[in-house]
Amino acid sequence: MLRLAQDTLQPLAGELSVARRSTDALLAQVPDTALFERPLPERHRIAFYLGHLEAFDVNLLLRDAAGAPALTDRLDRLFAFGIDPVGGLLPSDAVADWPPVEAIRAYARRTRARVDQWLTRLPDRPIDGVPVATLLQAAIEHRWMHAETLAYMLNRLPRERPLRRLEATRAVDHGDMLAVPAGEATLGAPPDGSFAWDNEYPAHTQHVPAFRIDRYMVTNGQFLQFVQAGGYEDARWWSPEDFVWVRRQSLQHPAAWLRAQEGWRLWSLHDAIAFQDSWPVYVSYAEASAYARWTSSQLPDEAQWHRAAYGTPQGSERAYPWGDQVPDSDLGNFDFARWDPMPVNAHPHSASAFGVEGLLGNGWEWTSTPFAPFTGFAPQSFYPGYSADFTDGRHFVLKGGSAHTAQRLLRRSFRNWFQPYYPYPFAGFRCVRPL
Ligand code: AVJ
Ligand code: FE
Repeated sequence: MLRLAQDTLQPLAGELSVARRSTDALLAQVPDTALFERPLPERHRIAFYLGHLEAFDVNLLLRDAAGAPALTDRLDRLFAFGIDPVGGLLPSDAVADWPPVEAIRAYARRTRARVDQWLTRLPDRPIDGVPVATLLQAAIEHRWMHAETLAYMLNRLPRERPLRRLEATRAVDHGDMLAVPAGEATLGAPPDGSFAWDNEYPAHTQHVPAFRIDRYMVTNGQFLQFVQAGGYEDARWWSPEDFVWVRRQSLQHPAAWLRAQEGWRLWSLHDAIAFQDSWPVYVSYAEASAYARWTSSQLPDEAQWHRAAYGTPQGSERAYPWGDQVPDSDLGNFDFARWDPMPVNAHPHSASAFGVEGLLGNGWEWTSTPFAPFTGFAPQSFYPGYSADFTDGRHFVLKGGSAHTAQRLLRRSFRNWFQPYYPYPFAGFRCVRPL
């Protein structure tokens, strides 16, 4: 019985959380000073929707067997419909008629928590004759309709109270790891006459045991958890040498983050811009390794990264993660199309055969493999020091590319390398675990 409920209802609970991220993202763009604006005379003030979206769900879902809503919070009723405009008239409520914004936010938080609690139980018996799946779908569609309403409402905000621009994004399902079965990975460039650097030769195949890998690069939002958990002060997550570095530099956060009055901001090419939860975090190898250790995972090695990116369940290997199609802006953030990063899940069509997304562009990815020549390496006469000067065990291989990586450097065999304490490149990471 319980299984049935879990199997059929759990995906709907997932859909609800995706819809929540969407309405959260819209509302997060409204500065507090604009929350009691009424951009559309026919509708409620923006602040109403903060409460309404949660009140609707709780009133709909938390009913007793006879269908009576569990009205345990006096605000459940206020935010069910609010102070309704009567008979075609425009609403005439005053700001003072509403609870202060902190109280509305607190209501939204505790009400969502009540719904979350209910979602962990997910009854599989109809409520007042209505299947639970139907109620959940009503909650999901209700929220999606409000997402659209909010968008055209916010579009009418007075222009002297502008929205903060946050990136529009699908929800990032953190903790989503994908299985990659054991198989072969071909590293290096084939001797087919096309250009490659010395360190890409010779091509060779490596066996890779099964493992799991993050679907997306680690985001600023995820890394913030590590920062807030005191990760930069805790020697447990760092190698002894790395922690000496952290201490000596008094590091407390990634180099691309700025501490501001209202929280964090990001250092971007033109400006300090609003913090972007869903962009990849850019960090040094040492910081990436510390985060991985904190989450009981590891950085992928170069062969694992190749296997996740280019391998297939059938055993063949692809030219690009998504197949043979040459890179275009639908497949990743690279080749100078934009100055800034994008959300880690912005390119669903880029998925590899194992479902891993955003492997090329939007940030180089650190691997745990020290930069070293492949067996049979030979320096090229026209630039003998290109790689040889750096094979000192003090550099690590990066794969993938950033927004500022030219298309012709996106070939499968291209290898980048940097020192472990080098925080400047647009370089992030994803994590792996044993299967
Ligand atoms: C391969 C990016 C590590 O910039 O240090 C440029 C490339 N070598 N001129 C670097 C390079 C010589 C190199 N990386
Ligand atoms: Fe150079």
